[in-house]
Amino acid sequence: MPVIEVRHPLIKHKIGLMREGEISTKKFRELTAELSRLLSYEACRDFELESCRIKGWCGEVEIEQIKGKKVTVVPILRAGIGMLDGVLDLIPSARVSVVGIARNHETLVPEPYFERFVGQLNERLAIIIDPMLATGGSLIATIDMLKRYGCQQIKALVLVAAPEGIKALDAAHPEVQIYTAAIDSHLNEQGYIIPGLGDAGDKIFGTK
Ligand code: URA
Repeated sequence: MPVIEVRHPLIKHKIGLMREGEISTKKFRELTAELSRLLSYEACRDFELESCRIKGWCGEVEIEQIKGKKVTVVPILRAGIGMLDGVLDLIPSARVSVVGIARNHETLVPEPYFERFVGQLNERLAIIIDPMLATGGSLIATIDMLKRYGCQQIKALVLVAAPEGIKALDAAHPEVQIYTAAIDSHLNEQGYIIPGLGDAGDKIFGTK
C-alpha cells in the first residue's frame, strides 16, 4: 500500500479547517504551508543519522546529524507551489525541480508542458508535492519523468487523496510512498475530490 495517512491530531484539525467553504485565500495558504511542514516531518522519519563530534559550550560533545541526504522537492504546477515554502522550512538545503503537466483534451492523457530538473537525480530523494491526488495522472507522469532521469528514491506529499488516485498509483508505482492528511470518499464527474477542498490551485492563488 503506497499511501500513509498521517493521523496526527494537528494534521486532522488543520485539514478539517481547510474544508470550510468560505475560507479566505490567506487562511487556505497558511494551512497549506503548515500541513506541508507536518507532512514533511513525517516523510523524513526514515532519514539516516550519523554521529559526529563538535565543540560545544562545555567541551567536545557528540551529536547526531542527517547523513548527507540529497533532496529535491518537486512541486507540480500550479498548486504544488503552495506547498513549497512549508517543505523548504524543514529541508532548507533541498534543491527544487519544477514540473508542469496538463491533460490533453483529446486523448485525456496528462502531458508535461514544462520540466526543469536539478542535477544528480540518481543520488537524490525526490519529494513530489501536489495538494490533491485525484485521478493520479499528474503524479504518475511526474514519477515516470523522474525515473527516466535516473531517480530511484521518490516520495510524494499530498493534502487530500482520492481512492481512485491511490489505486492508480499503486498499480503504476507501488514502491512510491504517498503521505497524505486525509483519504476522502471519491471523485465526482468533474474530477473533484468529494468532500475534498475544491480547486486547491484557485484557493492558493486567489483565482476563480
Ligand atoms: N484538483 C483540485 O484542485 N481539486 C480536486 O478536488 C481535484 C483536483
